[in-house]
Amino acid sequence: MALIELKNVCKSYYSGSLETKAVCSANLKIKSGEFIAIMGPSGSGKSTLMNIMGFLDVPTRGRYYFENKKVTSFDEDSLAEIRNKKVGFVFQFFYLLPRMTALDNVKIPMIYADVKDKEQDKRARKALKQVGLGHRMKNRPNELSGGEQQRVAIARALTNNPKIIFADEPTGNLDSVSAKEIMKIFEKLNKEGKTIILVTHDSKTASYAKRKIRLKDGLIQ
Ligand SMILES: Nc1ncnc2c1ncn2[C@@H]1O[C@H](COP(=O)(O)OP(=O)(O)OP(=O)(O)O)[C@@H](O)[C@H]1O
Ligand SMILES: [Mg+2]
Repeated sequence: MALIELKNVCKSYYSGSLETKAVCSANLKIKSGEFIAIMGPSGSGKSTLMNIMGFLDVPTRGRYYFENKKVTSFDEDSLAEIRNKKVGFVFQFFYLLPRMTALDNVKIPMIYADVKDKEQDKRARKALKQVGLGHRMKNRPNELSGGEQQRVAIARALTNNPKIIFADEPTGNLDSVSAKEIMKIFEKLNKEGKTIILVTHDSKTASYAKRKIRLKDGLIQ
């Protein structure tokens, strides 16, 4: 069974009558447990495709099935719920809240998921240990290295126990040593059963994935 299935998915942006086709006729099946790299030049539609699969954006045309359910007919509330429970996100620029400790940053998605305080604390500590940051829980982002900040972001993506982790250029802002550490974490998470879908234009980063999807001008090659 496919975890994700896209049928003829298109996403266009309009400015007046001018149409920009960010993604066109995307047909794609992704199984649970895959580790995928979405590659392609800047502007080829990688983030758009990822955002559609991650319920952050809706297609203009076509159908999206997640676990055989038709996502394209979900309302805003159902989308928010599935986004919160089924997927975790990691971005190039970490997006940690500067005044909060690593531990509190990791708790944020659980606040939205109505997880009880004690359980929040337990899961956040576990996730930080999973990414090797058991000793930095009380530090704020500006006291952490780039690689450590990205590890906090990965821990934050893990706390609601998502099926899929989406990562958009997760190593784009890191030196090569930290990038490798981050990719090793994704590799480990994939071995533990998580589906990983990552966007990158770096072939070294992509080499950790088991399948590569190439985009050009919005089309899957
Ligand atoms: N909100 C938007 N409004 C209008 N056009 C957009 C919007 N988002 C993306 N686009 C356009 O859609 C196309 C695909 O954009 P997308 O961000 O998916 O590319 P990308 O492959 O992720 O690029 P990069 O590697 O630079 O991040 C581009 O031409 C972009 O300008
Ligand atoms: Mg992008």
